[in-house]
Amino acid sequence: MPSPPQIPTLPSLYAAARLTPVPRPLFPPSPSINAKISLHQGSIVSVSTAAIVNAANTSLLGGGGVDGAIHSAAGPGLQRECAALHGCPTGSAKITGAHNLPCQKVIHAVGPNYHRLGHAEAEEALRGCYRRSLELAAENACRSVAFSAISTGIYGYPAAEAAKVALGTTREFLGGPDGAKLDRVVFVLFESKDVEAYRDAVPLFFPPAETQ
Ligand code: APR
Repeated sequence: MPSPPQIPTLPSLYAAARLTPVPRPLFPPSPSINAKISLHQGSIVSVSTAAIVNAANTSLLGGGGVDGAIHSAAGPGLQRECAALHGCPTGSAKITGAHNLPCQKVIHAVGPNYHRLGHAEAEEALRGCYRRSLELAAENACRSVAFSAISTGIYGYPAAEAAKVALGTTREFLGGPDGAKLDRVVFVLFESKDVEAYRDAVPLFFPPAETQ
């Protein structure tokens, strides 16, 4: 069960040349923020951060993809707890216990269905999922949080664009007043399309810092 200490952060990925700096990053380098960010390939159900973020639907009653994997690993108690929440609107998120999962909380974010919304509306909704999930982690004393790649599977959000929304929203949150409430944000990448998208987008938002 990979826990935050075992999951490398950006400084070591830059040191191992697994990330390539870009000439014009969108944010200034920040050693402290870079030390909070990890990329992890694998299934989110085995990640033991304080919270994991599910890619759910508005019913919160489970589904396929990562939603199915999380509910299957958590056991039936998760669906019972979710049923009591009476759903969640697209672009937002709600939090539950983790039941049989190794984490402590599950944040259920409802991403946009890219096939159904216009581009601008879909981007704003995806941004809302990441922002609300980070807020919920901070509000619930979850100092480490792992995200699945919300909306990039069944909901069809293009991987490269979704990665930029996820990373940009996270960089803004960590640079804001509540950023100090989080020690680690892990992006869990399950398919190679997402691994490549994050590898290309990370240096734009989290450029290497000299002291690394
Ligand atoms: N661990 C981590 N990531 C996973 C896992 C897993 N075990 N299984 C799938 N993924 C990844 C996918 O590769 C994709 O990158 O999660 C990302 C989100 O894909 P989906 O699970 O298909 O979710 P999404 O695209 O947001 O569609 C949500 O699908 O499962 C239903 O109930 C869900 O209706 C909702 C819709």
